[in-house]
Amino acid sequence: MLRLPRQSYHDIERIIEFDFVRATEAAALNTLAWVGRGDKEAADAAACDAMRGMFDLMNICGEVVIGEGIKDNAPGIFKGEHLGTWMPGTPQFDIALDPIDGTTNISKGSPNSITCIAAASPEEGVKCALRDVPSFYMMKLSYGPRVVHAMQISGIETVKLMSPVEETLLAVADALKKRVQDVVVMMLDRPRHKEIVAEVRRVGASLRMIGDGDIAAAMAPSIPDSNIDLYLGIGGSPEAVLAAAGIKCIGGDMQCMMWPRDEKERDQLVADGHEADLGRVFYADDLAKGENIVFCATGISDSALLRGVRTNGPNATTYSMLMRAKSRTVRFIRALHNLQTKTIRLRSDNREHAI
Ligand code: FBP
Repeated sequence: MLRLPRQSYHDIERIIEFDFVRATEAAALNTLAWVGRGDKEAADAAACDAMRGMFDLMNICGEVVIGEGIKDNAPGIFKGEHLGTWMPGTPQFDIALDPIDGTTNISKGSPNSITCIAAASPEEGVKCALRDVPSFYMMKLSYGPRVVHAMQISGIETVKLMSPVEETLLAVADALKKRVQDVVVMMLDRPRHKEIVAEVRRVGASLRMIGDGDIAAAMAPSIPDSNIDLYLGIGGSPEAVLAAAGIKCIGGDMQCMMWPRDEKERDQLVADGHEADLGRVFYADDLAKGENIVFCATGISDSALLRGVRTNGPNATTYSMLMRAKSRTVRFIRALHNLQTKTIRLRSDNREHAI
């Protein structure tokens, strides 16, 4: 029997999306050995190795447009790297990824670490789907679909990045029909947030401080049972774009603004031609544009978004989410891995390894 000629798909993300989640699963599983070991570089290297190894099996032309924020000497996957086989004729993807968001958490064995990928295939009218924000940090505010809906109904944007904290908390309470003391705010625990923390406490909302990992935190208000209503504070810009890609798929919104660390960074941004964007509020749709976006994440340790990897005798269980902006289908994938039979392909030696 003759095989049919190769089919051309108009919706390539639908076909390829499960391979992306295999890559985050592999990164999470390969990081397991480093949980609590006090070596965040080794954990990051393990996640990157597994992620690259999985991409090596994928017939795509992938280019990293947003890699890890260069914070320290972490062995990351950085902007410009090619991922996938790059076989002629295979689909193109712009890729933003974070092999571990929350590497310090992993090194301490603390909660709140995920691994995630956002991938965008070319779309008519969309020049750059995943925005490469030039500042190191952004000021961020994110909220779930019920807050968006309430603002749409009233026709008034009551929740605004630049509003005083009290106004924002009261507006969120009103949108969610909650008392303000029941509004749960998540924030990175950083000295730079001292004043915001004091304001949240003065107004009486409930605060959840996290050590690291603000992709999961910024997406949490969009997850119905996360028990987080608002994410607020200053965190990495690449993490803002990844969270925005996730929020585009799941609903809710995010407002962000570049937050130069000092005059030197501000001057550099101006010199590089970004002055007009310095005061601009970027919504999720400005950071992650269009509909051809896939987002997936796997929990490494427990977070408000996903459970972390569980091991039980010869088995490991991973918890992932996989979704697309176009269909808005949100899949939560609980995968059981038999560690006696499972292998992960690593880029470092191009071989399959037991976990
Ligand atoms: P890493 O896992 O890459 O270290 O990033 C963790 C993180 O907490 C991000 O989630 C967050 O956006 C950023 O660091 C905040 O930066 P800083 O630690 O400099 O405040």
